Amino acid sequence: MKRARASQTLRPPGFSYVEAGSAPALQLHCEAVPLERLAARHGTPLYVYSAATIRSRLRAFAQAFRAVPHTLCYSVKANSALAILRMIAGAGAGFDVVSGGELQRVLRANRKAAGKVVFSGVGKTAEEMELALRSGILLFNIESESELNMLSAVAGRLKKRAAVAIRVNPDVSAKTHPYISTGLHQHKFGVPIPEAQTLYALAARQPYLDVAGVSVHIGSQITDVGTFQEALARVAEFIRRLRREGHDIRYIDAGGGLGISYEGAEQSFEKQIAAYAKAVTQPLRGLKLHLLLEPGRSIVGAAGVLLTRVIYRKTNYRKRFLIVDAAMNDLIRPSLYSAYHEIVPVRSGAAETEITDVVGPICETGDFFARERKLPVVREGDLLAILDAGAYGSVLGSNYNTRGRAAEVLVDGARAKVIRRRESFEDQTRMEG
Ligand code: LLP
Repeated sequence: MKRARASQTLRPPGFSYVEAGSAPALQLHCEAVPLERLAARHGTPLYVYSAATIRSRLRAFAQAFRAVPHTLCYSVKANSALAILRMIAGAGAGFDVVSGGELQRVLRANRKAAGKVVFSGVGKTAEEMELALRSGILLFNIESESELNMLSAVAGRLKKRAAVAIRVNPDVSAKTHPYISTGLHQHKFGVPIPEAQTLYALAARQPYLDVAGVSVHIGSQITDVGTFQEALARVAEFIRRLRREGHDIRYIDAGGGLGISYEGAEQSFEKQIAAYAKAVTQPLRGLKLHLLLEPGRSIVGAAGVLLTRVIYRKTNYRKRFLIVDAAMNDLIRPSLYSAYHEIVPVRSGAAETEITDVVGPICETGDFFARERKLPVVREGDLLAILDAGAYGSVLGSNYNTRGRAAEVLVDGARAKVIRRRESFEDQTRMEG
């Protein structure tokens, strides 16, 4: 009889350590595929995504919000790979886009998804509005009077009615990193509620604008769900007032922002999402609204790792460094937000640990993935996985230091598919003389 293989789950259901043959070491897998095999076949640095994780997150959302009419509009900015958008569209979801480029990606992934697209962002251009109107998107989230006037003009010129929501700024603190907090009065986002009221009156007078909803988004990586409840309570009160004034508000767009646990899950995602759903839906009770949600990170964050190989070990004045082949151009979150990403060896087994920095080859001190981190001792040539890199990883990639962007692989069960090939020097220089 075959002995059951020992395993240890790191990020369910995508990433687990599995016993490797007869060796004592455990090997990190993405679903049924060993990461070592992917690194050997496709090289490093390499983004690896788990389809099962994305699907299970989508299901968890659907389950948690099943009691209310809702549409999940996945926030494309978190990970805009076409293969991932195709998968998400295939599951019946819609999309939140913030540029004409993102909208084109959605249309490329699935033309029929246009009817479930919400368009957010403070600086939509007339061209982007035109593309969105011609594509027949669901809703424009408007962030200023000037933008409202512009949309009214573009819609009038095209003789196409635009459904609009004003994104309100509820002036609540998201208690997250200042760069990704958006709901306070000093931020560039949204319109203060008193001014929004004036904008609704203005919008209602425009022949080609259809006042349809209210939207709110207070920031990203929010772990205290009470913040969502506070923001939505203010919005609910505002919606009641708008309705009393005769506005036909059908949609509430509650934005995205639900945080994930970068240190490993202390509670299941299902429990977390249930608490989030309660915080969002409770203040809206009795309003008979269609709820729109714009999650990004909570769908794809834990579904991806950045796989990297140790090039050198180095010690400077007794301070240890692991120099790896991924860098801040592949994953900028640690450099930009001092974000913590768990880093694990792909082959676990070393009993010994050490305190070390994990850094990339880029010529900047800010090019690091971890500082003074306790890690199992690894050797030159060994593989490391930087966890929770599925959101705001590859999309924030650049060519700094003329480094080609990493390849990306999507794993589904025992199948692994390259969804973006590694960028070559030729790719990088094609637009230059
Ligand atoms: N909706 C709007 C209007 C947004 O601005 C954002 C994110 C989302 C939805 C999706 O939020 P999520 O569910 O992913 O938190 N680069 C940063 C995060 C920037 C978030 C920008 N807006 C990071 O790596 O943490």
